[in-house]
Amino acid sequence: MTDTARILHGKPYAEAIRAEVAQRVERLKAERGVTPGLAVVLVGDDPASAIYVRSKGEQTIAAGMHSQTHRLPADTSQDELEALVVQLNRDTAIHGVLVQLPLPAHLDSARVIALLDPDKDVDGLTTINAGRLAVGAEGLVPCTPVGCMILIRDAVPDLKGKRALVLGRSNLMGKPMAQLLLAADCTVTVAHSRSKDLPGLCREADILVAAVGRPEMVRGDWIKPGAVVIDVGINRLPSKDPVKAAEGKTRVVGDVAFAEAAAVAGAITPVPGGVGLLTVACLLQNTLTAAERIAGRA
Ligand code: GUN
Repeated sequence: MTDTARILHGKPYAEAIRAEVAQRVERLKAERGVTPGLAVVLVGDDPASAIYVRSKGEQTIAAGMHSQTHRLPADTSQDELEALVVQLNRDTAIHGVLVQLPLPAHLDSARVIALLDPDKDVDGLTTINAGRLAVGAEGLVPCTPVGCMILIRDAVPDLKGKRALVLGRSNLMGKPMAQLLLAADCTVTVAHSRSKDLPGLCREADILVAAVGRPEMVRGDWIKPGAVVIDVGINRLPSKDPVKAAEGKTRVVGDVAFAEAAAVAGAITPVPGGVGLLTVACLLQNTLTAAERIAGRA
């Protein structure tokens, strides 16, 4: 195959979402006197999480919203974390609450998520929001699958009857992704680490979404010619330069072997620079949506 895939860069989509959010924020301030507020909770000092959380705070402020970042020590107790979530649920200046995952091993994330007010659950992780998505009711939908859907709709204008394969079954990504594709009339398969013949399943897919967290697992010969490939993986490997690797420098790769896949696919997202850029933009959108709904009820 000599053709190479269209590269689906995330930046222009993220910029368009942020611009629209910023306009809607101004309207909400002018019409209702409400400034949307997002609180992000980070427990511990995982360096990758710290970078994501800083970026979320900066982009929240750039969109004209109110931002709170709660950095808690790694030895924070379950009770302390739950008390903070309850306080944020009650805080009328806050419309979105995000607890950065993963939490340190001694903390029970399911119990923390269960405490979140579903109407402030901008990650779409509560049982209520997962259920709303499953039945097609209005709720808050996890940000990364929403970002993937924006790219997929652009690459495949008519999704009806398309074969979609979602690799990965997490609550934050694989399961909601499958629901969104199903709602868009795709024929959806969810594959995971225990699935048989992953390459064969992938080769049937017109749309392949990889979210397994395994560096470059999906090879070029797993991909149906012309397929749309969305790579959600963010995997850190040692730098290719041995000197830099010895200094602890890393490089980021996706779940898809990009060069091989780009030679076969019709369109593909790069890593970095693809889906990852849309996640925070969709988080801002969810925070604004939450604030609009809360203001509408007030
Ligand atoms: N860790 C990595 N991505 C995410 C995300 O989208 N939400 C939360 N809460 N934690 C994450």
